[in-house]
Amino acid sequence: MRFFGSTRALSVLPLLASWLFPSTSAIDLDPTQPDQVRIAAKNVAQVLMSMYADPQTGAPISGIPGLLQYPPYYWWEAGAMFGQLIDYWYYTGDSQWNDMVRAGIVHQIGENRNFMPANQSKDEGNDDQLFWAFTVMSAAEYNFPNPPDNVPGWLALAQSIFNQLNTRWETATCGGGTRWQIYQWLPGYDYKNLASNGGFFQLSARLALYTGNDTYAQKALEIYDWLANISPLISDDYHVYDGSDAKKNCSDADHSQWTYNYGIMIGGAAYMYNYTNGDPIWRERLSGFINQTGYFFPESYGSVMLDACEIPQKCNIDQVSFKGYLARWFAIAAQLAPFTAPQIIPHLRISGKAAAQTCVASDGVPVPYKCGNRWYWQGYDGNSGVGQQLSALSVISANLVTVAEPPKNVHTGGDSQGDPSLGTGGAKEFPEFQFPDVTTADKVAASVVTAVVVSCMMGGGWWIVHGES
Ligand SMILES: *[C@@H]1O[C@H](CO)[C@@H](O)[C@H](O)[C@H]1NC(C)=O
Ligand SMILES: *[C@@H]1O[C@H](CO)[C@@H](O)[C@H](O)[C@H]1NC(C)=O
Ligand SMILES: *[C@@H]1O[C@H](CO)[C@@H](O)[C@H](O)[C@H]1NC(C)=O
Ligand SMILES: *[C@@H]1O[C@H](CO)[C@@H](O)[C@H](O)[C@H]1NC(C)=O
Ligand SMILES: *[C@@H]1O[C@H](CO)[C@@H](O)[C@H](O)[C@H]1NC(C)=O
Repeated sequence: MRFFGSTRALSVLPLLASWLFPSTSAIDLDPTQPDQVRIAAKNVAQVLMSMYADPQTGAPISGIPGLLQYPPYYWWEAGAMFGQLIDYWYYTGDSQWNDMVRAGIVHQIGENRNFMPANQSKDEGNDDQLFWAFTVMSAAEYNFPNPPDNVPGWLALAQSIFNQLNTRWETATCGGGTRWQIYQWLPGYDYKNLASNGGFFQLSARLALYTGNDTYAQKALEIYDWLANISPLISDDYHVYDGSDAKKNCSDADHSQWTYNYGIMIGGAAYMYNYTNGDPIWRERLSGFINQTGYFFPESYGSVMLDACEIPQKCNIDQVSFKGYLARWFAIAAQLAPFTAPQIIPHLRISGKAAAQTCVASDGVPVPYKCGNRWYWQGYDGNSGVGQQLSALSVISANLVTVAEPPKNVHTGGDSQGDPSLGTGGAKEFPEFQFPDVTTADKVAASVVTAVVVSCMMGGGWWIVHGES
């Protein structure tokens, strides 16, 4: 993932709605009606698929299965998109894109079957890889059609990423944690971020619940303990912050708050709550995180979900997808920790309806049901793309959680093929790093960028996204 800017307080009043695109042809969704939700989700998913592949031929627009067109879309977002499409199938039962989704994921497993494809070696961070892990984990939990026989099972692929992250746990700085970047020459290597560590926590929790193997739960506990008690990333009152500078031994945090970081923690805590059969400590943590998400549902914006960067329209290509992950793991929490449902379902309803009305069918919009970025806006705000579409699909379809089966595990019919030792080869399983376009000067430049970026993050100011790395 790219660098994230800081956020401002959400005290500004909403701008008056622009009537540039009248909303008369928008999706008018009653989120309590499953049939309406299914139809809305299908229309929105169709547009998302059309951003990945030619609707006529099914050929990926990027020319490579499993990749979105780069620029602007990075590798991780394709992984996130396939996860959303698996959720879409699971919530609606519509399997029309399953073969394409499966083929895309399988292609990106890469040469060593560890989600470290050589083509991405110049760029890949731990959080990027984890978003693919979430996708294969969902595939296992929902009994998504298995990969071909010559490929490890969905569960085994998730275990591989768990094992890789395990080798990247680093106690020399900050008393633990994994770094954002896998490769030390990439900008951001000195940043220990929530998405990588919280993502590792969530993956461990999911593996614990799915396999029943307590080793994973112990790891989840260890990571949680570091996040909450050693690093500054989670405060005592359950604020979730973006990251911390390992060069300063994580003595301070970038206090930006993002929907997806909360989503990651809420998801992980919900899996642990369920795995421990309702341990009060996980109940407390889960409820603590959920309570803090009020920040993203300001009453002055109709209690509709937003990330702060939307207000000045400064979100980058990654950030516009973030709301989708909070919606996704809200739904999971409502299932695995039913006590949270009364707090969560109203959020999903209000934001699902609001998101749907940004997806318009005509009025000069070339693609019907393309959704906007700001759900508090009246109608389509003219700001569309994969992230916006993915987010809208997520929050709309999450409303089907009230009628969906819970995710499966080994005790309830989950039968994905595992391999607890996959991915334990460490660095020798890494692809050969391609140096031709990285000179020593570039590497020096990269570390300068890192220093600048990290100091800007610590300063909490707005800063421009360095999109290329
Ligand atoms: C890597 O790039 C090559 C050349 O564009 C392509 O043929 C191959 O499918 C790519 N591999 C992956 C895993 O994306
Ligand atoms: C770095 O932080 C860790 C965790 O808080 C602490 O245990 C360690 O002593 C610190 N190291 C230095 C050199 O300050
Ligand atoms: C765990 O999840 C299942 C499936 O949704 C649910 O029936 C059960 O009540 C949950 N356990 C607890 C302790 O809430
Ligand atoms: C979250 O808010 C609910 C409702 O106000 C409250 O009962 C609960 O104790 C809070 N949880 C935490 C951890 O503060
Ligand atoms: C449990 O998971 C750990 C970590 O991957 C593995 O080493 C161990 O073999 C697993 N145990 C069983 C019974 O599968």
